[in-house]
Amino acid sequence: MNISVKNLDIAKHKTDCHVLAIYQGNKLTESAKQLDSASKGYLKTVLKRGDITGKLNQTLLLHDVEGLMSKRVLLIGCGKARDLTANQYRHLIKLIASQLHKYKLKDAAIWLADIELKDTDQVWKIKHISQIITQSLYRYNKTLSSNNVKPALRKIIIHSSQKGTKLTTAAKTGQAVANGMAVTRELGNLPGNICTPTYLASEAKKLGRQYGIKVSVLNEKQMETLKMGSLLSVSRGSRQPAKLIVFEYKGAAKTGDPIALVGKGVTFDSGGISIKPGGAMDEMKFDMCGAASVFGVMRSLGELKPKINVVGVVGATENLPDGLATKPGDVVTSMSGQTIEVLNTDAEGRLVLCDALTYTEKFKPKAVIDIATLTGACVIALGKQGAGLLGNDQKLVDKLLAAGQTAADRAWQLPLWEEYQDQLKSNFADMANIGGREAGTITAACFLSRFAKKFKWAHLDIAGVAWESGGNKGATGRPVPLLMEYILSEAGR
Ligand code: BES
Ligand code: MN
Ligand code: ZN
Repeated sequence: MNISVKNLDIAKHKTDCHVLAIYQGNKLTESAKQLDSASKGYLKTVLKRGDITGKLNQTLLLHDVEGLMSKRVLLIGCGKARDLTANQYRHLIKLIASQLHKYKLKDAAIWLADIELKDTDQVWKIKHISQIITQSLYRYNKTLSSNNVKPALRKIIIHSSQKGTKLTTAAKTGQAVANGMAVTRELGNLPGNICTPTYLASEAKKLGRQYGIKVSVLNEKQMETLKMGSLLSVSRGSRQPAKLIVFEYKGAAKTGDPIALVGKGVTFDSGGISIKPGGAMDEMKFDMCGAASVFGVMRSLGELKPKINVVGVVGATENLPDGLATKPGDVVTSMSGQTIEVLNTDAEGRLVLCDALTYTEKFKPKAVIDIATLTGACVIALGKQGAGLLGNDQKLVDKLLAAGQTAADRAWQLPLWEEYQDQLKSNFADMANIGGREAGTITAACFLSRFAKKFKWAHLDIAGVAWESGGNKGATGRPVPLLMEYILSEAGR
């Protein structure tokens, strides 16, 4: 997909479709004024007829408008000038993308970067247009016998009256973020019988080769040598061997301490011996979406090549019941030396992450962010709207909150007060792996915090945001936008 930013002349530019915003009321957007004068008042005539009033999300497709070199004009209602919210604006772009696909258009010129939108600038608008249009191209095909229809769209020009490399960079950034999200979505959507820890490892190697990112994979034997007893206690019940996958993206000088991303990569979570009830259990193939978001970020970084160092550590395993599987009451020793009583084998994410976190110490990271579909409690607390965010460094948490806000991929902070730590007491080990019914997302983070003492750390619980259920079942690609926003701002872009 070719996306560029240009100052266009509506009369002279040749395209399959110009896309223009129409306000409710009599006020015309700048682009609508241009169109009206190029077409000698035709737009006003159409508006008078009343087929489109400018109400939010209305659309009207015009053909062969006189005075233009393009075949079509798609008018899109954006409500009352000044009332439009960023959320509504993003929704409009989604709507535009689906209209362009509906008519199988190959290219379009989008005139929505100049319209007024509170608390945003041209860079924000162009980035989001580019990201949302690129996102709309993703189709899942891997296990379908006949492929979904491929969108015809090849080329987008975003009209902007302002100019500058910043705007072109914004378009490229949006596109790279969406391309990263597509990687995350694809890995998430793949069924557990294809997307195993071994598959993830080989996809990581492939990604590394494509984008010049160093990738290493530790097998179970190597993890045993490192004494990762906690992570390995999860894979005991599976015939698929666990893998620890390590990405090292080096965009800055060797001396620059990296940001580390640690992803939960449970390629299927049955609950283990504490087996889950059957309803919607298929969705536990998405239990590797934290890991998949690390892959997605690596893909985006590989495309954009920002000057920063980022390490990605992925703990990949299945969680299944078996004669050899870990049982409730078993005590395991983590790489940190701390012992854990496994009271519930379904609280396996933290068992994987704790050893991955300890392993991450060796990179001397300036900040560590783990990303995990960790608790059902987080879905109850925040629903599908926002990720849960907890951490031991408020500055880092604040940066992530701000990044999520800008990227429209929000997170919401929950407290990590030390009082909650008491819920993890065990009579037989240094800690239990569950903290009871209350505050499940917080006690899960409390558990992780005990393995994050040596660095600034934040935890994103993405159980609610990583995938959609129901008719639109599928991975969302979140929180790649949040993570990329944070990393790029750390890189000074
Ligand atoms: N992967 C699940 C969390 C989850 C459940 C995410 C449903 C999204 C939807 C995790 O491994 C898990 O099973 N957590 C348990 C923890 C409990 C046993 C303390 C949970 O949330 O029920
Ligand atoms: Mn589980
Ligand atoms: Zn899980």
